[in-house]
Amino acid sequence: MTFTTGTEAYARHVGRYGAALSAAHADAAGVRTGETALDVGCGPGVLLAELARRLGPERVAGVDPSEPFVEAARAAVREADVRLAAAEQLPFAEGSFDVVLSQLVVNFMSDPKAGVAEMRRVARLAVTSCVWDYAGEMTMLRAFWDAALELDPAAPDEGRTMRHCSPAELAALWTEAGLRDVQTRALVVEAAYDDFDDYWSPFPAGIAPSGAYCAWLDEDAQAALREACFRRLGSPTGPFTLSARAWFVRGTV
Ligand SMILES: C[S@@+](CC[C@H](N)C(=O)[O-])C[C@H]1O[C@@H](n2cnc3c(N)ncnc32)[C@H](O)[C@@H]1O
Repeated sequence: MTFTTGTEAYARHVGRYGAALSAAHADAAGVRTGETALDVGCGPGVLLAELARRLGPERVAGVDPSEPFVEAARAAVREADVRLAAAEQLPFAEGSFDVVLSQLVVNFMSDPKAGVAEMRRVARLAVTSCVWDYAGEMTMLRAFWDAALELDPAAPDEGRTMRHCSPAELAALWTEAGLRDVQTRALVVEAAYDDFDDYWSPFPAGIAPSGAYCAWLDEDAQAALREACFRRLGSPTGPFTLSARAWFVRGTV
């Protein structure tokens, strides 16, 4: 698993988009005052914190199979019930939460069908998720993998390796789990970078599949990849902003 390297590197990698994506996800999920929510694969707790702001910290819970992330999520929302667990075996009774959400997780589950079925089991009203559009408009990762493919056609581009990252695949997964009124849509968010190094530095730290690939390369190959990414982003000499698209899915119980 490549999410154990540290929450600080994660925050500068895809985590940079986390707050904006969490707000867009909570809006699209339609969580309302008075409801309870479970964040499955909560990571360091960015969506959990957004849900706590909207619903109250005592009305939200989270699970994640990574110990450092569970600790970080507990620190992010002290009153929330955060447990070490995977989606495939949720430690909650049937219908324990009004809304069950997972953000950027379905594509990492070892058994997504079982994971979504479990999310449905513990939900009373709705189950939602969003995943990056790895093959398309998640610019930060797309630039990285297009640069990697330029240098090594066998690079493990997440646009090809990730499953359940298109609206059709997500809708099929949700429908198969017995969820109803299944709807998909795009969530588009942005993140700002001080300069190119601000973009590049989390990759050699080894976070997520892209970082794991980068950290695995030798020094020369890393330098070539850095240069190719720089070019693909338009050789920025100062601050810049990138947009990122995620596909969202919602189904009712
Ligand atoms: C890209 S991170 C997303 C974290 C967080 N949801 C966010 O939006 O920042 C993927 C997360 O999925 C978790 N994960 C991996 N496999 C999982 C599984 N089978 N069930 C639940 N979470 C899982 C990882 O530990 C990691 O925290």
